[in-house]
Amino acid sequence: MCGIAGYIGNRKAAPILIEMLRLLEYRGYDSVGIATMDSRGRIRISKGVGSIDKVLKEKKLDSLPGNIGIGHTRWSTHGIVSEENAHPHTDCTGKIAIVHNGVIQNYFEIKRELLAKGHRFYSETDTEVVAHLIEELLKEGKTILEALRESIKRLQGDFSIVLLASPERRLYFMKKGLLPLIIGKGKGEAFVASDVIALAPYTKRVLYLEDGSYGYVSRDEIKVENVYGKPLPKRKNISIDASRIDKGGFAHRMHKEIYDIPHFASLFVSYAEHHIKGAIELLETYDKIRIIGAGSSYHASLYGEMVLSRIYKNKHIKAIVASEFPNRIDLVEDDLVIAVSQSGETYDVLEPVRRLKENGVPVLAIVNRRNSELDRIATERVYIEAGVERAVAATKTFVNQVLAFAALGGLESLNEVPKAFDKILKERRNRSGLGSEKLDEAALRIAKSLYDKPSAFYLGRYLGYVAAKEGALKIKEVSYIHAESYPSGELKHGPLALISKDFPVILISYSEKHVRKDRSTYEEVISRGANAYVITFDSLVENFEGASYISLPDVDENVSTAILVVPLFLIAYHAAVLRGYDPDKPRNLAKSVTVE
Ligand code: F6R
Repeated sequence: MCGIAGYIGNRKAAPILIEMLRLLEYRGYDSVGIATMDSRGRIRISKGVGSIDKVLKEKKLDSLPGNIGIGHTRWSTHGIVSEENAHPHTDCTGKIAIVHNGVIQNYFEIKRELLAKGHRFYSETDTEVVAHLIEELLKEGKTILEALRESIKRLQGDFSIVLLASPERRLYFMKKGLLPLIIGKGKGEAFVASDVIALAPYTKRVLYLEDGSYGYVSRDEIKVENVYGKPLPKRKNISIDASRIDKGGFAHRMHKEIYDIPHFASLFVSYAEHHIKGAIELLETYDKIRIIGAGSSYHASLYGEMVLSRIYKNKHIKAIVASEFPNRIDLVEDDLVIAVSQSGETYDVLEPVRRLKENGVPVLAIVNRRNSELDRIATERVYIEAGVERAVAATKTFVNQVLAFAALGGLESLNEVPKAFDKILKERRNRSGLGSEKLDEAALRIAKSLYDKPSAFYLGRYLGYVAAKEGALKIKEVSYIHAESYPSGELKHGPLALISKDFPVILISYSEKHVRKDRSTYEEVISRGANAYVITFDSLVENFEGASYISLPDVDENVSTAILVVPLFLIAYHAAVLRGYDPDKPRNLAKSVTVE
């Protein structure tokens, strides 16, 4: 959450910072701002509320002079969304400008002290406190590096900060805790960012800073010290395929990323052939396995619980929402914990993982982003190989998380999946009951019939319920339609009361074992006036004669969840667009939830 960027070199800083911020915008889009230092050492700031394009137009961000600067795109924590609260923030003298990702937990206490010493504050943010604290430490006679060192000690919480300190022509930084901060070095120039994506167009080798790091970069020097005495980490290569970051001709990233599913699914299947032996061995060693994840990654965890329990019949496997994990006391020392996170940055996942590791509990990560904090601290890892995902809503990464669990279960049917994706997204006109529609057209048809309704139900049994949960989350998240998921059998225990004329119900039916009951659920809802749509497979579709359905090519039911979610993603996407929303930037949300 929150994107931070810094540039120093021979080129004009502002346009480069804007390009870096564009790549970071998925981490927050409440407000945006830039600070640069001109040739006379004066700091100039421009910022405003809204997207980069909007603020760029209104405030001419790119006209700020100088070849050194910092930028920020905000997801608000402390303080409302306003221009005053937009970063960068400054001290009383205007000589220090700061951008920040994370939370300063003891900011209020420090603010009180600084107010008593006469500092004046202009925002409600925790960030501004840091600028004034450094000002105060400099006043006491400390050097900037000493002030940064002292600040890391005094400030509580997890944070990454980049700052300008006039008239020094350096980008200063400090990092405490789990939030990423990465330095990239070019010839006569340097870059700092909170996500390696923003560095990918400029440099190939980067330095991931460790917890407790502080220092500066100038045009030709990198200086890093560490409060805890950690050695300087080695530089690493960036593994991002920059050509797949853009929208590739689609109107929205979410839509493009759904169409990227076949490519990345087959990438993962090839990877899994050779690279997950260590993870399987680890899994086989433990009898009790806990799986933690948040949001879509929790849904993938639930799939993992269900499918691995079928395969490893003697193991006790349980999926737990990551933020609830610390409240559970049923964890004993001889457990294995599987942590699932696309970003590898989610605080709710990292926090327990950090503690588990301290207590010697092994952690197997299922992660997309290499070199993320989770990747680095895990005992063993499976990379889901889903490429960069920039739409806020997880789509292709959820699919590959599911495939990762299928691979850990040794499911041979994993190999069928890429072909099935090719069929539904590349070739096939589906059997939707209306003849020759493509899957996307069928999803659009369903979206058209529900986008103006306030609520919807998503129903399914067992692995179908996981798909239902994921479908309901997706439509809530991007189209703001209130959607609830239930195990189909639960409907009659209360929720059925909500069904009335035209109430949309999406019913997942994926297994011969459940199909008779699924048909009964279908009858129960349509007899009460609901508009029901069935998502099913070719071999089951005859059970839904007369229904409006989407039928998918048959796959082994153990891997069906990966296929079932594709039409659900498309329905959510189209519903958002029909309602006039940008599915790539859902309100109040951001990708990589790095706060508690
Ligand atoms: C939903 C979504 C979120 C994430 C969740 C965890 O579409 O994207 O629910 O799944 O915030 O994120 P990661 O997987 O990065 O830990």
